[in-house]
Amino acid sequence: MSILSDKEEALLVKARAIGAEFVYEPEDVAKGVKEYLRLMDKGLTEPKQAMTMIPTYVTAVPNGTEKGVYLAVDLGGTNFRVCSIHLHGDSKFTLTQAKTPIPKALMIGTSKDLFSFLAKQIENFVKNHHSDHFESQSPNVHLKLGFTFSFPVEQVALNKGYLLRWTKGFDIQDAIGKDVCGLLQAEIDALNLPVRVVALVNDTVGTLMARSYTSPGKAGTLLGAIFGTGTNGAYVEKLSRIKKLETSPEGEGDFDKSSGVMVINTEWGAFDNAMKVLPDTPYDRALDKNSVNPGMQMFEKRVSGMFLGEILRNAIVALIGEGLFKGAHGTSIDENGPLFTPWSIDTSALSTIQADYTSEYTLTKQLLEREMGVSAATTGDAMAIKALVYGIGKRSARLAAVPIAATALATKAYENYKIAKSEAQRPEEIEKIDIGVDGSVVEYYPGFERYLREALRDIQPLVPGAAGLEDAIRIGIAKDGSGVGAALIALVA
Ligand code: BGC
Repeated sequence: MSILSDKEEALLVKARAIGAEFVYEPEDVAKGVKEYLRLMDKGLTEPKQAMTMIPTYVTAVPNGTEKGVYLAVDLGGTNFRVCSIHLHGDSKFTLTQAKTPIPKALMIGTSKDLFSFLAKQIENFVKNHHSDHFESQSPNVHLKLGFTFSFPVEQVALNKGYLLRWTKGFDIQDAIGKDVCGLLQAEIDALNLPVRVVALVNDTVGTLMARSYTSPGKAGTLLGAIFGTGTNGAYVEKLSRIKKLETSPEGEGDFDKSSGVMVINTEWGAFDNAMKVLPDTPYDRALDKNSVNPGMQMFEKRVSGMFLGEILRNAIVALIGEGLFKGAHGTSIDENGPLFTPWSIDTSALSTIQADYTSEYTLTKQLLEREMGVSAATTGDAMAIKALVYGIGKRSARLAAVPIAATALATKAYENYKIAKSEAQRPEEIEKIDIGVDGSVVEYYPGFERYLREALRDIQPLVPGAAGLEDAIRIGIAKDGSGVGAALIALVA
């Protein structure tokens, strides 16, 4: 380890102070959980809340015995995926897929441009992998397609939903209020494809379904969560708690009530837009001001991949502003480079830096050069940047504990687990509360689950009924959840 110069020491002290602005204390996590519980109830009772708590009309989760071949497409934040899924009926499946990045221009153009592009990708895929359907003479042989659309939609039936608002940098005004299944089907029909859109699925609902299909235990999964470009969760709620369903119009919104439950898409990215309990720093405020949707998705803007790079950039710019970085020890910073260009730092940079345990911070120095326009960075510089990254990443993971804890408590999943355990002959065999997760942040950010679990432990003495909660929760990756999940819902449709 090199000895730091006085200037580097001073830089590091300042960087640690900025990093400390991201500390999210146990009491803050507990306050977050209490506010989340309140907004959950409000969203289930009253329409048009920011944290929307959307009824999905999915009233059962799979158990692994489902079979068949289905198409699924996934419009997430960054890529468009088309896949076909073969469900084998023994908790296993095979998946063929094609993935295309969504051109940036289409994210802010017209709905026609976007949806015709999507239909074109479906055409390519079906021609490559399901050409038999093109040769088939019968017009009735359609492939069923589940459409994973990872934005807030007011769902009125399994295959119908009106777009409420865009998130994650999309901004196509003419699509707001339209049925997105209709938009996609129209473009599919324009290409004469033998494909019918039968289910509209949020990616979190897909993740919940997929995890339930593949998870080790017999009991279903409680919650599916995405920590990727954006963040959100969907969970299994009792019908009796979804009070706003009683006031929904007849006909549209009709569904099978026999299971007594329905999956709710929370849209927790919009948790606490009012900023009552969420942590806030100058770096968060600068990001929000510069975003396409100021004042919205305030939880998401502190947690998910689309935003962590920009928070880091703002924090580095502040550090540079202290005059301790630039030129101080031979380091040179490109003033027209990425550090001074909004939204140009990818969140994967944080994962790389966080995972850099080389003694001279070689990986961080390389990344600073390659992705941030900083050349000849010293070990002191790299350590300073890592102090910022640590603060931002850890806060994201601790924030992620808030909706997870609140969901386990509100649904009584945790209470039921405790009762089952106290009554069981072999308490160690009682199944834990299962949570399926997907997304680049939870998958690649080093230590994300560890920090999340630490936060769960922190609230145990602070939130009523939470003692022992962390140990009761099992978290598992649901890889490709949205594709398989959409297929599972298409199957039910
Ligand atoms: C969207 C959600 C989605 C989440 C994860 C958010 O921005 O509003 O619908 O589930 O991103 O992709």
